[in-house]
Parts: sequence; structure tokens; C-alpha cells
Amino acid sequence: MSTEQRIVAPDSGEEDAGENSLRPRALYEFPGQDRVKRNLEVAVEAARRRGEALDHLLLYGPPGLGKTTLANIIANETGVSIRVTSGPAIERPGDLAAILTNLREHDILFIDEIHRLSRPVEEILYPAMEDFALDLVIGKGAGARSVRLSMPHFTLIGATTRYAMVSPPLRDRFGSVFRLEFYEPETLARILERSASILGVEIHEDASLEVARRSRGTPRIANRLLRRVRDYAEVHGEGVLTLDAAREALAMLDVDDLGLDDTDRAVMRCIIDKFNGGPVGLDTIAASISEEADTVMDVYEPFLLQCGFLQRTPRGRVATLNAYAHLGYEAPRSVSASQATLWEAPGGEECDE
Ligand SMILES: Nc1ncnc2c1ncn2[C@@H]1O[C@H](COP(=O)(O)OP(=O)(O)O)[C@@H](O)[C@H]1O
Ligand SMILES: [Mg+2]
Repeated sequence: MSTEQRIVAPDSGEEDAGENSLRPRALYEFPGQDRVKRNLEVAVEAARRRGEALDHLLLYGPPGLGKTTLANIIANETGVSIRVTSGPAIERPGDLAAILTNLREHDILFIDEIHRLSRPVEEILYPAMEDFALDLVIGKGAGARSVRLSMPHFTLIGATTRYAMVSPPLRDRFGSVFRLEFYEPETLARILERSASILGVEIHEDASLEVARRSRGTPRIANRLLRRVRDYAEVHGEGVLTLDAAREALAMLDVDDLGLDDTDRAVMRCIIDKFNGGPVGLDTIAASISEEADTVMDVYEPFLLQCGFLQRTPRGRVATLNAYAHLGYEAPRSVSASQATLWEAPGGEECDE
């Protein structure tokens, strides 16, 4: 099962090629994430008054919630340039040094998937973030010496889907860390209405709410479903996105009332059918549905947890009574009984294995 083919995959695929046209450019066009926006507004204003670069900041959360968009908005709002790169793209320390020396005063460096930076590259980043200094080694062998160059005061914005995998020394060097949350359907409906007007299609209010409800709290998925519903309405109707058109199109795409698709249901069925509802380890689930453990953890699991279908326990993942109900299964008595105690057990810490 490849994520590329999933209509409800939160990571960006070919289908999102037109994504840039829908990307908000200013904070007022970016509904939701109110806590993050409030904090950002203060930080931006404070930096402006002091005439300094904005503090380094780290954005984390599941894919498609607006991390890249927010980084670009911050650059627009502060009127500085943004240089975009990603953890895996910076292979050697020299690559990062080259990027850093080309920054200008107050510029933003955006590093996506920052948890994937290698150790030697990270070590270049520490003095750059802390002292705006670049430590370079010149020469080789016995004649090698280290020189420290000062560099412009820049702002690093890091983004990650995996907060736990960002190394603690790197985390500590960010002035602020913000977690992006899944969006409420009402907020997604507003995003959809804006997108529809950019795409030049008429959407009924009940239709935008319907699409919003099935978008897994994720703007990227909402926009993608919108394009599909629009295609359907053009072929089967007058091109106006009505509630009926939305429902028919979504049914055709096998996206259920909550936005779950076949793969999500496969994950839940695997836990229930093959492992009696769990607990079962992430690697085992991944192997059973022929997926990478990382993909299950980044892409499927956050939303299933959010829906309350899955629970992480110290011993592995467990299907909840809600999951049984949603799939139309009757939960075995042993499961109902054990969950009653499981939920009440103190210190039921999440485990990341
Ligand atoms: N709050 C928002 N309002 C409007 N559109 C949004 C919002 N958040 C995300 N989007 C849209 O969703 C898409 C994915 O956002 P992006 O910033 O690339 O997510 P991430 O970097 O977190 O994976 C973008 O095309 C953007 O248009
Ligand atoms: Mg991104």
C-alpha cells in the first residue's frame, strides 16, 4: 500500500502540485492554530521593536497542518527573505556552512524534517544558532587549525513531524517550540471556502462542512478532497459543490464519515483480527499491512489516536472500544473489561518504542 495513492494521505504528493496557489501568505488568511499565532505575533512584534532577528523557533506536528506555510508567512510578515532546505538535503557540514554564509542579516533559514540532520551537520548549527558564529577547520592533518567566522543574525525555523527525534541539544537552542494541532471542522470549512473561491468554484456551506469533517483535521487533505469533489461536480452536475455532490464524490473515494480510508481500516482490523485488539508493537502492525513503521507512526497513527480509536500503552498499541464500534464489530467481553482498567491505570505513559 503506497501512501502516494491515498487520497487522504496528509503528506504532499503529486496531486498537491497546485498547493502553492492555495497557500495563505499572511496570518489573517491562516485560520486556526490560535495559540501558536498569538505567540508568534508577540515574538514578531518584540523582535521588530528591538530591531533584532526573530528568535529561532521549532514547529512540530503531523504533516499537512501548516508548518511550511507558517514559516513562509513569518518571512512575509517580517519582510525578510527565507531560504528553504531540509534535513536530508544537507548531507555534509560544508553544505550547511555554504548556506549559512550566504544568509543576510535577519534572514530566515527554514529546515524541514530537521530531525533528520546528521550529527556533524548539527554541530555546525549549534554555534551558528547560539553565537551567530561559524567554526571552520582550515587545512588538514597537523597543520589544521580552526577559525571562527561571525555570521549575520538570522532566524532558524525548524519543522518536524517527530519532536522526540530532535536531539536534545538542538531542541534546547530554539527560543520557542510550537506544536500544531489538528483543525476543527468549522476552521477547515473556512479554509475550504477560501480555497474554493481561489479555484473559482461555488461551494454550499453544508458541503464545505461535510468535506471538512472528513478531512482528518488536516488542511492539505481538505484542499485535496475539495479538488476531487470539484471534478466530480463538473462531470456529474452543474459544477456547483452541493452537499449531495460532496457525499457522492467522497463515497466514490471510499472516504468514510470520519475521513478514514481503507488503509486506516486495515490498520484497525489488523490489530483487532490478528492480535485480539492488542497490545501489539508498531513494527508488527507495520509488517502486517506491508508498510514502514515510520509511515505508520507519522501518517496513520496520529489521526487514529486523535479519533480515540487507538491507544498507546507501555506494551504496545491497543484498539479501543470506539474502534470496534466504528468498524461495526462487537467488542469481546474481555476487551471491554480490560479497557475499563487500562484507562484508569495510573502512569499509562505513551511509548514510542
Ligand atoms: N491554517 C491554514 N489555512 C489555510 N490553509 C492551510 C492552513 N494550514 C495549511 N494550509 C494548506 O495546507 C497545505 C499544507 O500545508 P503545509 O504548510 O505545507 O503543511 P506542513 O508543512 O505542516 O506539512 C498548504 O497548501 C496550505 O495551503
Ligand atoms: Mg511542510
